[in-house]
Amino acid sequence: MSMNQPKRYLITAALPYANGQKHIGHLAGAYLPADIYVRYLKAQKRDVVFVCGSDEHGTAIPIQATKEGTTARAIIDKYHPLMEQNFKDLGIAFDVYHRTSDPLHHETAQEFFTKLNNNGDLEIKESEQYFDEEANSFLADRYIKGTCPNCSFDSAYGDQCERCGKSLSPDELINPVSTLSGKPPVKKSTKHWYLPLNRHEDFLRKWILEEHANDWRSNVLGQCKSWIDGGLQPRAVTRDLDWGVKVPAADAEGKVLYVWFDAPIGYISATKQWAINTGKDWKPYWEDKDTKLVHFIGKDNIVFHCIIFPVMLKLHGNILPDNVPSNEFMNLEGDKMSTSRNWKLDMQDYINDFINKENGGSQMADVLRYYLTQIAPETKDSEFMWKGFQDANNSELVSIFGNFVNRTFVLMHKLCNGKVPSFHQDIADELDQQTITEIKNCANKVTALLEEYRFREALFEVINLARTGNQYMQKKEPWIVAKSLAENPDAQKSIDNCLHICLQLTANLAILIQPFLPFTAKKMCHMMKVVEKMLDWENAGSMKLLSVGYSLRAPELLFRKIEDSEIMEQIEKLNAVSLKKEGEKGEVKSETTEAKEITVKQEIVFDDFAKIDLKVGTIVSAEKVEKADKLLKLQVDLGFETRTIVSGIAMHFKPEDIVGKQVTVVVNLAPRKMRGIESNGMILMAEDANGKLHFINPEEAINPGSGVS
Ligand code: 2FM
Ligand code: ZN
Repeated sequence: MSMNQPKRYLITAALPYANGQKHIGHLAGAYLPADIYVRYLKAQKRDVVFVCGSDEHGTAIPIQATKEGTTARAIIDKYHPLMEQNFKDLGIAFDVYHRTSDPLHHETAQEFFTKLNNNGDLEIKESEQYFDEEANSFLADRYIKGTCPNCSFDSAYGDQCERCGKSLSPDELINPVSTLSGKPPVKKSTKHWYLPLNRHEDFLRKWILEEHANDWRSNVLGQCKSWIDGGLQPRAVTRDLDWGVKVPAADAEGKVLYVWFDAPIGYISATKQWAINTGKDWKPYWEDKDTKLVHFIGKDNIVFHCIIFPVMLKLHGNILPDNVPSNEFMNLEGDKMSTSRNWKLDMQDYINDFINKENGGSQMADVLRYYLTQIAPETKDSEFMWKGFQDANNSELVSIFGNFVNRTFVLMHKLCNGKVPSFHQDIADELDQQTITEIKNCANKVTALLEEYRFREALFEVINLARTGNQYMQKKEPWIVAKSLAENPDAQKSIDNCLHICLQLTANLAILIQPFLPFTAKKMCHMMKVVEKMLDWENAGSMKLLSVGYSLRAPELLFRKIEDSEIMEQIEKLNAVSLKKEGEKGEVKSETTEAKEITVKQEIVFDDFAKIDLKVGTIVSAEKVEKADKLLKLQVDLGFETRTIVSGIAMHFKPEDIVGKQVTVVVNLAPRKMRGIESNGMILMAEDANGKLHFINPEEAINPGSGVS
């Protein structure tokens, strides 16, 4: 963090590819933390511009167009407005949401390239690249398929094998073919512009590994170190492609800027657009050293934002990022989120199911924001569990936060005539004082944590303040004190003090929760009959937010309970639409250089494992489930009983082939309904490198019901 307070802030959130729906993993990775930070800065009345927009170039777009049988233009025009609306619905309040297909961006990116090119900061090299003679086109890595040298998968892409996750170059593929014509490509010489990162190694080492050794997250520093230590190479910044920003140089026919060259420049174009919209000057935000530039990203974008773009910015004469808070990945119900396998929760689906429904509304946007922040993968991968989502809502937002605010309002109406009561210093006790101190401390803690991008801890502190409020009220018991009003002269004073503190605490909660749950904070302002200006951060910690004698509105419930049935419905939906095998749906992968990791789940202790009851069962009948391509309904003999189990294996086994087979069953898994059929257990399967499923069973038949451990 800079020592002095910066004059202004420019906050960016990674530009999402406009090639499809974005899921909650994207939301949690970059957009939500950025929004929280920006809302906090704005509540601090700092000068801040928050920019984002759609990334509309790269091969992902034309490939998606082929898949949807349309044009690249139609794809971006479909997804750009959709993503913009999704962000709005979830309270992500960009100052500008731009798009890289905009002429303003093309000009900006071309000017950037030209300056570097004219200054001799780029190198031009000839190389041999794959060319499709039939399509008369050079082939981007994604347009070449072949056999993976690592796992022998026969449909690996030229940049990565979807099966084993290994990063590849097209030259490594065995028997490459062009996906345009299906023919083997030939090698042809072509010229490209390169950014010689190797010239900047000393700068990067010093700037990142020394100057930011203490304020950047360790996951970010770790990745940067391994890139730098691995030896930096010149990176091609142009491509032979017809979709993108045309290379502004002589003899560059048919070439466009590499998407990762133009996309981050999109942050500058977006700032220019914001300046046009507001009549402000964009330049200081990118050129003045008093500006604090912060990039919020997911971990697969680290190298681009910490190494490549900073080199570009330095060469172009811009400021460098002060920090690049990057999150790890968020898994869903025990598995990696994946567009190809449909194992995900799209923002749009959440909006349809929870926000646009009658019993939803923007409070449900806040519930998602709450849970995603609570489980934010700030230091390691995390896990979205529908049950966890429900618990976070029911046990924390409803039972702690909402309950406290509601009780305060109800009692204030009942015992204090609906007005903010006085605080009587003469009878104030230690608990009152302690609670006042805790309010102040909480405000300080939350501020410090937000300054350091530690959002989950900051949110925890806010909820803890609501918890403190509940405990305080529980100890003071104003409803009991009220019973002695007739005989105890101090009873009303005691009630007043309690509710005075609870109301000031409520107002503080509104301020502190605002960056995280903006819709809730707004609703609280309405209940307190205060203008939103009260939410200014400088008011946090104050005990004078609500004036004595001021009458407040009747309480409204801030959060509603989430029923089991809603959660079950989501889990069923996930299971019903997901595919077992990576790549089955031909996902259009975006351009990243990060290899996929083979993940090992979090360590568990033996007691956790021992809770799982595994037994051998024999399949006695199997039939297809109507309207569910993937599901088989099985009757499994477990020795002590025969059970119905619904299993997602229909794409791999014919019902008649598996009757009589022995399988390993998780017998104590809570029943769940799939396509209306109650499934009472789960069959364990192993998946081989080719995605084929295998039963896990004893070498020779044994009695059904035998335990497995
Ligand atoms: O990974 C992605 O989704 C990229 N479209 C992010 C681009 S961020 C920036 F550089 F524009
Ligand atoms: Zn492979």
